[in-house]
Amino acid sequence: MKINVLAGKIEKHTTEAAVIPLFENEKLGQVAERVDKALGGMISRLIKKGDFKPKTGAVHLLYPEGRLPAVRLLLVGLGKRSEFTINRLRQAAGKAAPSLRSAGAQRITVVTDGIGLDSEELGQAVSEGSVLGLYRFLKYKTNEQNDREKDLLTITLLTESSGAVRAMQKGVKDGAVIAESAVMARDMVSSPPADMTPTIIATKAKEIARQFGLKLQVLEKDQMKRLGMGALLGVASGSAQPPKFIIVEYRKGGTKPFIALVGKTITFDSGGISIKPAENMDKMKDDMSGGAAVLGAIRNAAALKLSLNIVGLLPVTENMPSGSAFKPGDVLRTMSGRTIEILNTDAEGRLILSDALTYACRYKPAVIVDIATLTGACSIALGNEAIGMLGTDDRFKRQMSAAGDRTGERVWELPLWDEYYEQIKSDIADMKNTGGRAGGVITAAALLSKFVQKYPWVHLDIAAMAWTEKERPYTPKGATGIGVRLLTKFLQDFNK
Ligand code: BES
Ligand code: MN
Ligand code: ZN
Repeated sequence: MKINVLAGKIEKHTTEAAVIPLFENEKLGQVAERVDKALGGMISRLIKKGDFKPKTGAVHLLYPEGRLPAVRLLLVGLGKRSEFTINRLRQAAGKAAPSLRSAGAQRITVVTDGIGLDSEELGQAVSEGSVLGLYRFLKYKTNEQNDREKDLLTITLLTESSGAVRAMQKGVKDGAVIAESAVMARDMVSSPPADMTPTIIATKAKEIARQFGLKLQVLEKDQMKRLGMGALLGVASGSAQPPKFIIVEYRKGGTKPFIALVGKTITFDSGGISIKPAENMDKMKDDMSGGAAVLGAIRNAAALKLSLNIVGLLPVTENMPSGSAFKPGDVLRTMSGRTIEILNTDAEGRLILSDALTYACRYKPAVIVDIATLTGACSIALGNEAIGMLGTDDRFKRQMSAAGDRTGERVWELPLWDEYYEQIKSDIADMKNTGGRAGGVITAAALLSKFVQKYPWVHLDIAAMAWTEKERPYTPKGATGIGVRLLTKFLQDFNK
């Protein structure tokens, strides 16, 4: 699919479908007004009768029947102007594009005048929202070709001000790149666990590294042993799949210190010996979403040529029960030298992350960000609308919050007070790997905090956000690709 920008007027523009954005509770904008006239007042009548309410993402299809060169017109709501945000535009685009695909159009045009945003931001939001909203995971549908609604071929952003074209083009390009990385992450997360093993993830990372000129190193089991990664190896001990530790570096930041991104990459979380109930266990293929987000963000950093030094670290393994699996009662020695008593083998994410965080400290990073589907408790705390955020550095937490608001991948902070550490004290080891039901998000983060030394650190718990059972405006059911756009924006904001 191509996305391009064109200067011109809708009255002169031939297209299979034109998207006309409308605000709620306000007079039609100039372009919509002219279109309405050409259609004999059809749009204003629809709105006046209440048959179409321009709420964000609401759509209504019309046929101009020769009164305009466009074959179809799609009205799309932007909601109230006073509540308008860049994310609302992303949502509107994410609804408009797939509904025109269902209608049968393949070359569509979006009227961009009168929306009233910076042209670059507008271009980015429309392309990002469209690509994300059009996402489908069809790889395992055998009659894909027959079933498939035809893909869109082009989206043209039309503007009457030729001066806006260049900036809009830049935004369109960035938005498409960023969304493609999120799509890559969604594909990885959607894939069956047998087809997204640690070995396959390592191969995937190699592909990305080759394509984007990144430095890549994959540590094997014996190297992990030499480094003393007893926590990662403990989790991996039940699996027939060999674990991997992926180190991917993007170095375009001169002498700047590294930014370390650490992603939980459990390719399947059965719970191990503390096995999970059967219901919904299939969803535990999404337990590598943190790693996918890190790969997506580094891909974006490279594609957008950010002048930064970034290292991505992915501890990758399955969590499986077997005769060789680690057990409740075991004590694992981490790479840091600290010991962890295992009370529940299902609290495995914090274990593999403890070794990865220790490894991150070798870079003396400016900041460490980890991202993980860490706790079921996160959805109890925040529902399915926010990423849980904890950490040790206010400035970077603020930068992350701001990135969340801009991208729509919103974060909400929880406290990391000293008192919570009581819950992870062990009688026989330096700490234990679970802290009971109360404050599960926080006690998991408390354990992680023991492994970041003095480095500024932000932890993101995406457990409630990696998968959606509910259709959302630019996020179809299934893997969301959460974190890719958030981390990308967080990185971009270093260059400001
Ligand atoms: N991967 C899970 C967390 C999770 C749960 C992600 C549901 C997405 C949806 C994690 O490894 C886990 O099992 N956590 C346990 C921790 C508990 C044993 C302390 C949990 O949240 O139940
Ligand atoms: Mn688990
Ligand atoms: Zn897990």
